[in-house]
Amino acid sequence: MERNFTGDLRNLPDGTNVIIMGWAQEIRSLKNLVFVVIRDSTGQVQATFKRENFSNMDQLSTLSRESVIRVEGKLNLQSKSKAGFEVEASSINVINVSESPLPLGIIDPVEADFETRLNNRFLDLRKPVKGSIFRIKSSMLWGIREYLHQQNFIEVQTPKIVAAATEGGADLFPVEYFEKEAYLNQSPQLYKEILIASGIDRVFEVGPAFRAEEHNTVRHLNEFTSVDIEMGFSDHHSAMSMLENAVKKGIENVLKTNSSDLQALGLKIESPKVPFPRISYEECRKIASSNGVEIPFGEDLSVEALKFVGEKFHDFYFIVDWPSSLRPFYTMPKEEDDRYTNSYDLQYREKEITSGAQRVHNPDLLTKRFMEKGLKPENFEFYIKAFRYGMPPHAGWGLGLERLLMILLDLQNIREATLFPRDRTRIVP
Ligand code: 4AD
Ligand code: MG
Repeated sequence: MERNFTGDLRNLPDGTNVIIMGWAQEIRSLKNLVFVVIRDSTGQVQATFKRENFSNMDQLSTLSRESVIRVEGKLNLQSKSKAGFEVEASSINVINVSESPLPLGIIDPVEADFETRLNNRFLDLRKPVKGSIFRIKSSMLWGIREYLHQQNFIEVQTPKIVAAATEGGADLFPVEYFEKEAYLNQSPQLYKEILIASGIDRVFEVGPAFRAEEHNTVRHLNEFTSVDIEMGFSDHHSAMSMLENAVKKGIENVLKTNSSDLQALGLKIESPKVPFPRISYEECRKIASSNGVEIPFGEDLSVEALKFVGEKFHDFYFIVDWPSSLRPFYTMPKEEDDRYTNSYDLQYREKEITSGAQRVHNPDLLTKRFMEKGLKPENFEFYIKAFRYGMPPHAGWGLGLERLLMILLDLQNIREATLFPRDRTRIVP
């Protein structure tokens, strides 16, 4: 269908004949005029209908909001309207009439509660700023993908229905799989490592990860988008450098592509400086302790503790050298002291965005690590087998895409960064 986008109108010559397709956002009738604000994916424009040109003005003035319309007319760049341009309409086709009242207003000054918004997400997303969030998400991912391709990674797809737990056994969703019990995958971890043994030694995957976490928080989803990489012949240092550069390139692509979206969201963002600071788990404990928060060795850093660390090293920083007790079986212990590991989290202030590590590549050590974690190596035979016939040293990470978007856009709830969030109580729509 021939069509002009509202976002392009300003750059066309005055008087051009244009065709606009979109939603009738607002309809205002005066005695001899009707104004219709039409919204499409790129913006909005006011169309002016003069009574002398239209026999069906009364029908037009009762058109329901959010109906889908096609308007043809002359572009007027001399317009006195706020936008500075409008369309002097010569014809209108009502393509699909919207029912009314709307379950959710698109331009209401006060936002509906979150439940109502999510129940009517297709309408909620018609609000231009919501669209901006997902355009930015797309550009961010595009920038990351482009960078990883440049670094000779290939994008892969691994199974989401699996037979074994990745991150230690908890938080699994069981699936009925014919005669067998299976699970939804928590992370592509085991498969991306197996691919390192396959000789494809730089892989990345963007896909859903499932976690049956019982608690409903503003930072947790039960299905999120995991951006994962795994690289062979490499250690945690090179994986960290790949991560900070990937994040930087993602943000730079947003800056290049989405200036009007950032403006709509009222945000000023800068490209982060790399390398990000590296702070050890032990240093974090000390910083917390000097602020009166004691973290016993081997315990996770609390949000309270991380707030103090975040204040000192904002915004992006790595926490490195985590204790073995806090990291999954596949994490490489430190050669000099196996109470610690070659692992890291990427943080933004107090929030975790990514976890990663160098992995164990020796099958005997791997078997030992399974047993230390109370897991049965025989349940992971398909995985350990890949380590017995030539497995290179390797490292990687898993980044929560919605978490990254949340911190970048200062969203208060991770659900804002998800089109159709899955949480403890929501599986519809
Ligand atoms: O820290 P996690 O559990 O690490 C892994 O999955 C490892 N296999 C990664 C690796 O390569 N070593 O998850 C990775 C990231 C977290 O840092 C977080 O950003 C995000 O995934 N994430 C969640 N995001 C939203 N909701 C949840 N329930 C999440 N759980 C993890
Ligand atoms: Mg983690």
